[in-house]
Amino acid sequence: MWDRLARAGIPYTQPQGTPPTTPRAKRRFLDPQGRYAGVGIAGARVLSLAGGGGWHPILFAELGAAVTLVDISAAQCRTVRSLAKERGTALRVVRGDMRDLTRFARDSFDIVDHQHSLVFVPDADRVIAEVGRVLAPGGTYVFQTMHPVTLRLYGSWTGTGWRPRTPYSDDRAIPVYDATWEFGEVKVEAPTIEYGHRTQTLVNACAAAGMVVDGLWEFSPGDGSGGPPGSDDELERWLPAFIEIRARKTYPTAAAGRH
Ligand SMILES: C[S@@+](CC[C@H](N)C(=O)[O-])C[C@H]1O[C@@H](n2cnc3c(N)ncnc32)[C@H](O)[C@@H]1O
Repeated sequence: MWDRLARAGIPYTQPQGTPPTTPRAKRRFLDPQGRYAGVGIAGARVLSLAGGGGWHPILFAELGAAVTLVDISAAQCRTVRSLAKERGTALRVVRGDMRDLTRFARDSFDIVDHQHSLVFVPDADRVIAEVGRVLAPGGTYVFQTMHPVTLRLYGSWTGTGWRPRTPYSDDRAIPVYDATWEFGEVKVEAPTIEYGHRTQTLVNACAAAGMVVDGLWEFSPGDGSGGPPGSDDELERWLPAFIEIRARKTYPTAAAGRH
């Protein structure tokens, strides 16, 4: 689906905006909310997970990190590869599934940056377990995905309110309500299958993978001015579109080492 969306030039598959040139401004562009505050990027080993088509892998590399990008879509990988070539930026691009990071050794990254893609896999805990394995002690994992409550409400307007399309306790895929991705003149049929991972799933998966959550944020893009009744923009005025979590990999304890 992402190959299809990328070929059609849907904006979500393209790097958005133009990054500035100075390192300080690049860091602000990469991390406007300061989720990586206090985390050194120069010299860090960064895994950009499902980071195809965006600026993040490029900017981490330009700030001095050794970056590996993993993305399942050849088209999304190609976008980053050609952008890197154009800018003379060195990074490693691997086409692969985020659920299988076995090609990477334990403790091989200091940062795992993972934006807007857990929604596309049924088993978030499997991905997070893999992240916990490849992240080195003291390392930082930042990920964003669709908010599990709001995702269940898109497209459910009854005329007087929103009615969840599935119960919060149902972990199956959210039924597709509109498979057409539309931007101006461009229309693409891409029924991406989406999962609204519950907050407890995400947080407990981090804990089970040896990480401690030290930040959790819920927010919507845009200016919050809403839109027509029942629209996604209006829903996002009332509820957050996204959930974002930061977790740190713990150090092994002496007691754990004895087992
Ligand atoms: C919404 S885009 C996000 C792109 C980028 N992370 C960003 O925020 O700019 C979702 C990305 O997830 C990738 N993706 C979807 N399922 C995946 C999987 N199972 N393993 C790896 N990448 C996946 C898609 O190819 C696509 O590049």
